[in-house]
Amino acid sequence: MDTAFLDNAELADLKANWDTIAANQQELIASLAAEGQVALFADWDAPGTNDDAKTTFLDSLVKIDGNYPGGLVGYIHNARKLLAESKAGANPFEGLSPEQPEKVDLTEFTTDFEKYEAIGARQFNKVGIVLVAGGLGERLGYNGIKLDIAVEVLESTTYLKHYADNLLALQARSESKRPVPFVIMVSQDTGPKTIASLETNNYFGLSKDQVHILQQELVPAIADNDGALALQEKYELILKPHGHGDIHMLLHTSGVAAKLKADGIEHLMFIQDTNGPSFNTLPAAIGVSVENEYDFNSLAIRRKAGEAVGGLAKLVGDGKEFTLNVEYNQLDPLLRATINPEGDVADETGFSPFPGNCNTLVIRMESYVRILEASQGIIAEFVNPKYSDETKSAFKKPTRLETMMQDLPKLFGKSEKVGVTIFSRMWSFSPNKNNVVDAAAKIASGGPADSSATAENDFYAAGRARLAVAGMKVEEAAEKMILGVPFTIGPKVILRPSFAVTLDEGCDKVSGGSISGESTLIIDGSDITLDNVELSGSTALVVKACAGAKVIVKGAFENAGFALIELTEQERSAESEVSEYLKIRGYKFENKGAEIFEFNEPGDYTVEA
Ligand code: UTP
Repeated sequence: MDTAFLDNAELADLKANWDTIAANQQELIASLAAEGQVALFADWDAPGTNDDAKTTFLDSLVKIDGNYPGGLVGYIHNARKLLAESKAGANPFEGLSPEQPEKVDLTEFTTDFEKYEAIGARQFNKVGIVLVAGGLGERLGYNGIKLDIAVEVLESTTYLKHYADNLLALQARSESKRPVPFVIMVSQDTGPKTIASLETNNYFGLSKDQVHILQQELVPAIADNDGALALQEKYELILKPHGHGDIHMLLHTSGVAAKLKADGIEHLMFIQDTNGPSFNTLPAAIGVSVENEYDFNSLAIRRKAGEAVGGLAKLVGDGKEFTLNVEYNQLDPLLRATINPEGDVADETGFSPFPGNCNTLVIRMESYVRILEASQGIIAEFVNPKYSDETKSAFKKPTRLETMMQDLPKLFGKSEKVGVTIFSRMWSFSPNKNNVVDAAAKIASGGPADSSATAENDFYAAGRARLAVAGMKVEEAAEKMILGVPFTIGPKVILRPSFAVTLDEGCDKVSGGSISGESTLIIDGSDITLDNVELSGSTALVVKACAGAKVIVKGAFENAGFALIELTEQERSAESEVSEYLKIRGYKFENKGAEIFEFNEPGDYTVEA
């Protein structure tokens, strides 16, 4: 190793410490010094002073170096290149013009929908689920991990349990009954609590072996256009999140993607931490991917013009063609500069012609592993510094490289096929991202609230939709405003995944009947059938059956059911002992006389009103 750099006057103190430093750390320091990072090691204390802090600092550098493909030097090189492009004001879409992506419209429950679900249902033992759950959830401001929040508060099922229930339902329906792999990406902020949640709940019935936890690491912040790494203080780097695109790198470096492919997994579905309806779309989305041979299938919704959600577009020009998510703040200027001087406006359908990205992705394993190998899993990093003036020579605060998982198609060539599958919003996209105050402001300005209450609302709406498709008469009750956010007070329908995964399954298990008013229906069990069940008023019926318990439910029920109680201001206050997952929606339910039937032994049963 060339140690000439130690003669730099700024590094005199480092030189004095040099013999106490481990060989691998010395090498890393030398390579960083060669990259102009001398400031990281300037003004060290003399040997014997702050030695623990020095060791911790060097250990952290070695760890970060090992986490990033290409190491810290690779990170600095990537940063310099992207910062130079950013400074030059490079247009990422230069020479490209937006066109409609290839899309399949499944916004209605047509025979096409059922066709795709039937194809997807034959693939359940070849599907893996990837959940990105490393985000802080600052907009929601919840004091815990988002996966521990209840998606509904009649039974208070957490997102994590809801997802696990879906995996169990998929594998129960697959021919081989093979466990569905479940990859969860966590960060140092969310990892310990996610693991605690799995452990204390016995993995929600999943086997520990089918769950793969991958932890994303923070990346160093960058202080200037030369890629100088920023220090918090002496002996401590500033570290920041690298974005959910890390999932690709981790699936590559952990070997999990290659292993799952070798195990026969053909598609991975990527989902977010608080998008409860993701699994509603799974069978049909997989069916579309299989039938149309999509390497990358972006699930989407009809997007209101200008809505703050990325638009999916085919970008064509210079002999290139990509179907990509274009961030909403880039879409309008891109359209103005190319095909429409009015920018992002509605077409004759009343929606933007560019579908909105739900960030639920179905990726074909074969091309995925190939692309991961070629790219080391580093997917289209970008940098977004806030410059302190027009010369773009300094930043307001240190920046960092980031990645987004939906950018994978930026690495695709002509042979990879990207498509978009559009679902109705309540069926596919109802994330729980915003606190009550912001949610009300979003409603007031005409946008979707994407809050706990709207997520729960859509959860029940999807249950009602399944019953309606199966032929039950469903009459929706009025909406009520709770803290400025609309909530449909009934019927509240939860059909657990154990009961039905596809529409077809619901049709087989429900015949006739009606549901209306503020009533509630909760069904959990694969062998329950509803025979002309009638629920109205506030009536609530809950039927749960273990495997092997065959239950026929019939007749017109009547009881006091569940009452919706709005929380008082005092109950919502920080001092109150009401659970935080209730405070973030502003209401709770109280059981005033719901009829609850549970069958924990196999056998034949009838529940009759
Ligand atoms: P969000 O856009 O909801 O971001 O992330 P967030 O960081 O969780 O929340 P805010 O912006 O602070 O309010 C979309 C998905 O990506 C995951 C989140 O956990 C969520 O499932 N994510 C985000 C990661 O896994 N890692 C990240 O670094 C960022």
